[in-house]
Amino acid sequence: MHILITGAAGMIGRKLMTRLTKDGGLNGQPIDRLTLVDVVAPERPPGFNGTVELISRDLADDGAAAAVIAARPDAVFHLAGVVSAEAETDLEKGYRVNLDGTRELLDAIRRTGDGYRPKVMFTSSCAVYGAPFPDAIGDDFHLTPLTSYGTAKAMSELLLADYTRRGFLDGVGVRLPAICVRPGKPNKAASGFFSSIIREPLAGEEALLPVSESVLHTFASPRSAAGFLVHAASLTREQLGDRINLAMPGVCCTVGEQIEALRRVAGDTVAARIRRAKDDLVERIVAGWPHRFDARRALALGFTAEKDFDEIIRVHIEDDRGGRVAA
Ligand SMILES: NC(=O)c1ccc[n+]([C@@H]2O[C@H](COP(=O)([O-])OP(=O)(O)OC[C@H]3O[C@@H](n4cnc5c(N)ncnc54)[C@H](O)[C@@H]3O)[C@@H](O)[C@H]2O)c1
Repeated sequence: MHILITGAAGMIGRKLMTRLTKDGGLNGQPIDRLTLVDVVAPERPPGFNGTVELISRDLADDGAAAAVIAARPDAVFHLAGVVSAEAETDLEKGYRVNLDGTRELLDAIRRTGDGYRPKVMFTSSCAVYGAPFPDAIGDDFHLTPLTSYGTAKAMSELLLADYTRRGFLDGVGVRLPAICVRPGKPNKAASGFFSSIIREPLAGEEALLPVSESVLHTFASPRSAAGFLVHAASLTREQLGDRINLAMPGVCCTVGEQIEALRRVAGDTVAARIRRAKDDLVERIVAGWPHRFDARRALALGFTAEKDFDEIIRVHIEDDRGGRVAA
């Protein structure tokens, strides 16, 4: 089986490669070829023994999508994208990557024709929804995104659904909750603190908390994000029906509950490394985000996430800290 991953150098892309390498196959078929595409040079996944093609290219460039589709990969994980803050500050770049890049990819598949009909797993986001929100947002809640990022994701979802309906490909759009704990260096996303208040204290460093502890959000680990994508690839058209874009499950909790989980898992000294430093702008941005999702369709289709935030922290310690916590 030949698998193509776009955005392969990114956080979820790397987690997905680790998972696929560990599994050795997808849907019961061995993976013998991987094509990894990203504007940043992707790395060869350690432990993968098949053929790997590493392509550093902007997917939205003329001909780039057609070039990677020419080899007719059996499954495509489309993860390439720019994050919400960047898509908001640089409108042209945001739409170019998040919408045009997706359309180029889907059109390259459509134009191949000749019976070519790959599985396409797309990372959408809960940013497709816009306030005012009900307590729990169901898959059938109208799509009225309030950011350019969410708008490009919503338009990409519609394209994916239409191209699936027309029989050009078999698409699944997974609306990810906030993926936490994000490993590595802090990034500039307004949501970055959800990860840094866990990641930095576990590494022995201070973390700033810019919002009140009552802020509520929904989370899943990077391991679960990879799991959602692998599971999505196993679903048939019949199982999915016409609504191929769906919200993933996750742990809904407040920032205060995140901190209590950190205290339970790693102790008081670690939890004391969080310093309250209110930031009104971040607080305002976060107030406009959805909190809780009713993921009953995804759960019925067999998608799974962590049971509580303690488990999300343990996954981070196991997967990204080699089991160690800084005393
Ligand atoms: N992490 C989250 O909490 C979260 C939540 C919802 C949705 N998502 C979506 O999941 C996907 C992966 O997220 P992530 O957290 O791994 O992000 P990431 O920023 O770590 O990875 C995205 C990758 O896409 C690459 N990229 C950007 N523009 C490109 C282009 N024009 N051509 C080729 N590659 C390009 C980047 O270089 C990066 O390596 C994204 O589409 C994101 O919008 C993520």
